[in-house]
Amino acid sequence: MLYPILSIRSGIDAAIALAMSCMSSQLLPSSYPGRPVVSIMLNYFKRPHVIQEIADNMRAACLSVSIPCELVVNVDNPHEAGAWVNEAGFVVPVFSANLHEARGYNRAARLARGKYLVVWQDDQIPPRTGTWMLQMIRLFQTYPRLGILGMNTYRICRQKESTNRQGNPGWNPDPRTGITWTYVHFTDFAPMAILASVFWELGGLEEGFSRPGECGITGDWELCARAWVAGWQVGHFSWDGRKGDPVAHGGTHTSVGALACWNRQMDVGGGSFTKRYIHPVFVQDMCERVWAHNMLTFTLRSPDRCPYGEQSRGWANCTAPPEENRAAFAAQMQIHLPTENRQSEAGWDIGR
Ligand SMILES: *[C@@H]1O[C@H](CO)[C@@H](O)[C@H](O)[C@H]1NC(C)=O
Repeated sequence: MLYPILSIRSGIDAAIALAMSCMSSQLLPSSYPGRPVVSIMLNYFKRPHVIQEIADNMRAACLSVSIPCELVVNVDNPHEAGAWVNEAGFVVPVFSANLHEARGYNRAARLARGKYLVVWQDDQIPPRTGTWMLQMIRLFQTYPRLGILGMNTYRICRQKESTNRQGNPGWNPDPRTGITWTYVHFTDFAPMAILASVFWELGGLEEGFSRPGECGITGDWELCARAWVAGWQVGHFSWDGRKGDPVAHGGTHTSVGALACWNRQMDVGGGSFTKRYIHPVFVQDMCERVWAHNMLTFTLRSPDRCPYGEQSRGWANCTAPPEENRAAFAAQMQIHLPTENRQSEAGWDIGR
């Protein structure tokens, strides 16, 4: 009687062994490491000397913090296609015919499988450590309404500041995450992270501001505005360790590109966010909501560090509403702040 049972068991074992070696085991997330959590998106144009360094360093950065990543590259000129193909695997290249930023990042985003999209630029060499990714994910996890997280420059209020800010604005580290960051009005490329779900909910980058084949420079601010209007929050945090490409400069800031990149797009698309066609109430409301988010979230490192200026000679203040009014104030400003401390969670989590 023992013999048939043994043979059934060995048949089952064989079936399991077969399944584990082929299809069904691929469906178990733990045995299928190919699904990335973070998709870094790069719009690449004619910088052959940075290809290997960007790919190597980014791969090392992801490994250093055990975050499954992919580097999705819109290869916008054909000459270095082979060099990018040589990096394929961690790198997911897609080949395009000089689409430029707006269409290029949208094309990369359509291929990206990560939960977090990070817009990257080809004149930025990443460090080989990925602490910034852990911090980025912790912020998104702790603040579920946070949709965009800038890491380059920013404005806490578009129309009140004549130039972009860099670095941290003067708040104490946020006790929920231990990270120093801020809510911002607009933040720009790059790096700039956005939840993939939010990117698609918002419809991606606006392609209508630039002609095909022209650079897209106003799409970052415009995306931030759409995020705030749709009920998402926009933040910024700074980290060190990126290097610029020392060899060549991009076309966006040359005189050849100036008309197409800046003037025309500021008039057409960016115009809504510059002084030209701005509706003052629209941006002022947004700006005050950002201010209120900051007041309800952060404390100042020292009284003279208020990024909004001072009571006597600033354009706002760092005066938080008194404790008893905070809830009513948050409701009035439609501010959703997390109620509990989620800092103890794992560094990242695929299935939020
Ligand atoms: C502080 O600035 C905010 C935002 O501009 C403004 O609404 C508020 O009235 C100011 N508070 C004080 C006490 O000046």
